Amino acid sequence: MKIVVGITGSSGSIFAVEFIKKTEADKFLIISKWGKVVLHDETGESENSLRPYVKNIFKDSDLTAPTASGSNYFDAFVIIPASTSTIGKIASGIGDTLITRTAQVCLKERYKMILCVRETPLATNTLEQLAFLSREGVIVMPISPPMYFVPKTVDEYINAFVNKLQSVLGIRRTGGWRAEEFE
Ligand SMILES: Cc1cc2nc3c(=O)[nH]c(=O)nc-3n(C[C@H](O)[C@H](O)[C@H](O)COP(=O)(O)O)c2cc1C
Repeated sequence: MKIVVGITGSSGSIFAVEFIKKTEADKFLIISKWGKVVLHDETGESENSLRPYVKNIFKDSDLTAPTASGSNYFDAFVIIPASTSTIGKIASGIGDTLITRTAQVCLKERYKMILCVRETPLATNTLEQLAFLSREGVIVMPISPPMYFVPKTVDEYINAFVNKLQSVLGIRRTGGWRAEEFE
């Protein structure tokens, strides 16, 4: 499976780091300018430290990269975390960075796109943009891990969301609430 991962400048880049490290797939990474800043601030990670876990990294400023073209197929584009600024651009049809251009490609080619939004509270314009994108087939997946399994560590809490994301991508099926009774 070929997955493009976009990291933008929202808080919560640890969710992207764990997803990248724990997901077996052909992953291609794009990190926005502010994504790099927040990634480093919150996790100490960088483009270089994530390089061993992905097949290739493209620059967000490089609109000649393969994902900017609808002729190059990929299975899914996951933006994690997705900033409200990037959501606004995508909903408006702006494609002036590789992340927003790749999103444009997903919308026009009807490729799977998952937006892992991280912001609270949400402004009305963001809610309307997300509703529009959802109607266009985009999966809106706010970073909000479940608590019903009573996580004891932050790692467990983060993993619960990563597992759910893998499940939505069809990479694995995770057991949910009372799953053992449903086998
Ligand atoms: C430390 C830090 C945390 C931020 N957290 C968020 C956030 O949680 N959600 C959000 O929508 N924007 C957040 N921002 C603002 C975005 O980084 C900013 O809007 C930026 O222009 C987004 O650009 P990008 O989408 O191209 O990465 C944060 C910025 C900083 C510096």
